[in-house]
Parts: sequence; C-alpha cells; structure tokens
Amino acid sequence: MQVAFSEAAERNKRSILEKLRTLLASSKSVLEIGSGTGQHAVYFAPALPQLVWQPSELPDKLDLLLNQCLQHPSENLARPIALDIDNGNWATAQVDAVFTANTLHIIHWPQVCRLFNQISTLLPSNGIFCTYGPFNVDGRYTSKSNAQFDSWLKGRDYRSGIRDIGDLQYQAEQCDLRLQENYAMPANNRLLVWRKLND
Ligand SMILES: C[S@@+](CC[C@H](N)C(=O)[O-])C[C@H]1O[C@@H](n2cnc3c(N)ncnc32)[C@H](O)[C@@H]1O
Repeated sequence: MQVAFSEAAERNKRSILEKLRTLLASSKSVLEIGSGTGQHAVYFAPALPQLVWQPSELPDKLDLLLNQCLQHPSENLARPIALDIDNGNWATAQVDAVFTANTLHIIHWPQVCRLFNQISTLLPSNGIFCTYGPFNVDGRYTSKSNAQFDSWLKGRDYRSGIRDIGDLQYQAEQCDLRLQENYAMPANNRLLVWRKLND
C-alpha cells in the first residue's frame, strides 16, 4: 500500500494542532479541504476526540489519502471523500468548521473566491474556517524565503501564488466571513481564522 509523505506537514503539524485544540474545542465536525498526504488528518483526529475529522481530496489523489487513513485508523476519522473546489456539489455532511493547509497559494484566485463562497454556504452561523500557510501582509512578503517560494510557485503555474490577507479579507466580507484571528506560526506561516457571521 503506497503512502505519501510531506516533510512540511510533518514539521508543521504540532504547532497547528496546538492552535486547533483551542479553536475546535467545541466543534463536532470538521471538513478538511486538500488533505494531500493525509498526515494532518491522521495526526489531528485522535488528538481531537470530541469531533469527527472529514478529510477530502481531488478525485485523482483520493487513493493515496485513503491509504494513509487506512494505515492510521482512528474512531473519529471519517473515510476521505472526493472534493474538488471547482465542483459545487460537495458530498459532505453538515460541519461546523473547515480546515485547509497550504492550499490557498496553490489554487487559482477564482478558486479561492469559490472556496470562500462555498464554505460560507456550508458553515452555520459562528462556524469557523481555519486556513494555514504563507500569506502576504499589506501587499508585502513577510520574509525573503516566502518571496522566493512565491516566485517558484509562479514559475510552475502563474495563477498560483501567496495570497494577500487584505485581498482575502475583501473576498471573505463578500460572503459573510470575518477574519477573527491571525496567528503568526513557525517558518513565516500564519493561521488565519475566519468566522461565519450570523444569518
Ligand atoms: C500543497 S498541497 C497541501 C496538502 C496538505 N493540506 C498539506 O498541508 O500537506 C495542496 C493541496 O491542494 C489540493 N488541491 C488543489 N486543487 C484543488 C481543488 N481544485 N480542489 C480541492 N483540492 C485541491 C491538492 O491536491 C493538494 O493536496
């Protein structure tokens, strides 16, 4: 059984979990978007036994994610589902929180907008959307390494790139999501927490 491995996920999972323990303390169900290798899902689920962790991935990458989950089962880890941001019919049950790591700089800006719209539809009032990764502040890189990473991303796909928190805030406000927390994380990353406003 082939299991994929991401060094970045291995490095950042502890510091992310530290924040999620508090942020998701009263959550019952979390949808993870772009779960990738599944290292976050299998690490977070047993550490957050009060909730169900629902991993998801693009259909053509689902098998690798499934293998990881089968190798590291836990009672509250749901079977991964196929989920493509470009496809509006997400086969997910009702959730009160959404998590995604290192995806906003990979997907294209129209997909970022679609993602925020979809999540706003999915979340109940006060539900939260946690986004981890590198972000720009006031149109500027927060480190030299992020600037280099952005240039690498754009060389690979010009539609990818590190997103500016202000641009994300503008998009979020259009769909009733408000930036509630902005945590500095190791290695020049951030954890941004968006809260769904009351209907
Ligand atoms: C850099 S990886 C991050 C993976 C994982 N979250 C992590 O932190 O290790 C970006 C992920 O976004 C997923 N992705 C890209 N386009 C997507 C789309 N349209 N819908 C859903 N996921 C997508 C990729 O398949 C990939 O797993």
